[in-house]
Amino acid sequence: MTLQIDPANADQLQAWDTAEGVFWAEEANLFEHALHRYDDALLDLAAIRDGDQVLDLGCGTGSITEAAARLAGSGTALGVDLSSPMLAIASQSAAEPRNAAGPRNAAGPRNLAYLQADAQVYPFPDAEFDVVLSRTGTMFFADQVAAFTNIGRATRPGGRLALLSWRSAPENEWFAAFTTALAAGRELPSPPPGAPGPFAQADPLMVARDLKAAGFAEPTFEAVDEPMYFGRDAPTAERFVLGVLGWLLVGLDDETRTDALAALRADLQAHQTAEGVAYASSAWLIGSTKE
Ligand SMILES: C[S@@+](CC[C@H](N)C(=O)[O-])C[C@H]1O[C@@H](n2cnc3c(N)ncnc32)[C@H](O)[C@@H]1O
Repeated sequence: MTLQIDPANADQLQAWDTAEGVFWAEEANLFEHALHRYDDALLDLAAIRDGDQVLDLGCGTGSITEAAARLAGSGTALGVDLSSPMLAIASQSAAEPRNAAGPRNAAGPRNLAYLQADAQVYPFPDAEFDVVLSRTGTMFFADQVAAFTNIGRATRPGGRLALLSWRSAPENEWFAAFTTALAAGRELPSPPPGAPGPFAQADPLMVARDLKAAGFAEPTFEAVDEPMYFGRDAPTAERFVLGVLGWLLVGLDDETRTDALAALRADLQAHQTAEGVAYASSAWLIGSTKE
């Protein structure tokens, strides 16, 4: 069956359902380690209770969907995402223990399901969900108001929204450091404010405007700063960074490219800590309720 998407999300489908999604799926453990410091704060804000019906937006490889399912107990969690390779990892992980220290062959939670869909337009049932959450998944919707109107229709009145989204690029040391190294002295164009991408929800005024237009109550914003990990050592971190931002090297001549990679390596080595290669990062915890 053909996936129904808003045509404005075609670029995101193309990216996440092919090379970018394959990289995230293959390196799921690296991405989990990178973001894990934020999980408790997001789940605390979501305040999932036994019996809740939970929707995880842009669930990727599913670790937050699984955590939500465990907290929902007799309820359920549904993870939706555009990316078939990432959803394949999510489904596989649900059938096996994620934590190697867990009981051998223990199954993951059974009260969850995954769906490949564009959350902006998918016809979810009306007023189905008690809690809607997302870890860095909602900044990629091309039309924020249309997406949150659709998601709001599927949220019961009083249902909770909990989002973790990046604050601006300059507030995220990792992004500034990697783009500076790989730009190799070039002035890189900045995307227009609100354009789909990691920093599309960095401006609280724009996010509040869009959520209220979609039928959500005045949102709350809490800034959370955590170290973000890019791997146990510099070579692992280099693989991680080039998997996400390697396209920045396209078009550089050999000498400039060599210099850019040397600058990246030196920066990664300078950020080695006992827990791995770590950079400062900063996100918004955005909370609201459906009116
Ligand atoms: C940065 S990843 C985050 C994945 C996951 N939440 C995590 O924290 O590991 C963003 C995810 O949003 C998904 N996504 C982007 N636009 C979407 C849309 N319109 N509908 C559903 N998922 C979408 C992508 O496929 C991708 O998996």
